[in-house]
Amino acid sequence: MKKALITGANRSIGFEAARQLLKKGYHVYVGSRTLKNGEEAVEKLKAEGLTEVEAIQLDVSSDESVKAARIEIGKKTDVLDALINNAGISGGMTQTVNTDVAIFKEVFDTNLFGVVRMNQAFMDLLKASEQPRIVNVTSGLGSLTLHNDPAWKYYKVKAPIYNPSKAALNMYTISLAYDLRETAFKVNAVDPGFTATDFNHHTGTGTVEDAAARLVKYATIGADGPTGKFFSDDNNPETGESPW
Ligand SMILES: NC(=O)c1ccc[n+]([C@@H]2O[C@H](COP(=O)([O-])OP(=O)(O)OC[C@H]3O[C@@H](n4cnc5c(N)ncnc54)[C@H](OP(=O)(O)O)[C@@H]3O)[C@@H](O)[C@H]2O)c1
Repeated sequence: MKKALITGANRSIGFEAARQLLKKGYHVYVGSRTLKNGEEAVEKLKAEGLTEVEAIQLDVSSDESVKAARIEIGKKTDVLDALINNAGISGGMTQTVNTDVAIFKEVFDTNLFGVVRMNQAFMDLLKASEQPRIVNVTSGLGSLTLHNDPAWKYYKVKAPIYNPSKAALNMYTISLAYDLRETAFKVNAVDPGFTATDFNHHTGTGTVEDAAARLVKYATIGADGPTGKFFSDDNNPETGESPW
């Protein structure tokens, strides 16, 4: 049975991704920064008959929490087939010029350094898989190209902290995929699309089901699948690929 770990899987898109991977026959570790919330999420899934699931305390912004989660999962398995780095925060829509550096640091600590921490901590377990998959959950708002196109539908959404954090995550994804290019790894940056969740007070236009399906697609992609790419159906429904 293949095994997957998802960060921020206690609710919203991460939770739905857990449900979809369970339905595909994966064993899923539900990462949750508050263990109680993770356990409640697991109970919901078990009530649906999806039993190959367990909660793991995991705050991606904490070295200690990530290390402890690695030790905990290491007691249960010596291989991980998929890691979905889904946990993310927005930092709000303040103005760039007025935003305190501390808020930039806080957002980057989750959206970028959290992903770096996770990939480094779990790299050995992933390397033990025959087909390791890493999905770095990004956003179309991380596209430098589109943010310079006044005709783009989200051109005015210049979220001052979030957008740079996802642009940096995209470049990090390119570097990581390049490092792993001679291996069986597939490492991609995937935008779930503008989705109705707590993240945007449910103003998103897409469903969590469609959003999670986009992440799960690349978490389960075959050996002939892409690596080092940026996917966004929201930005290009034809190819699913987004300009960087
Ligand atoms: N919704 C959209 O329209 C949209 C569009 C593009 C990209 N995305 C990206 O998709 C991902 C999921 O978004 P969402 O809409 O599902 O967000 P959400 O409803 O706000 O849920 C975020 C999840 O991440 C967790 N989280 C936040 N900081 C964390 C940390 N330091 N450690 C561990 N978990 C943490 C939250 O845990 P708690 O429950 O403990 O807070 C929650 O489980 C994010 O990376 C987001 O940037 C979303």
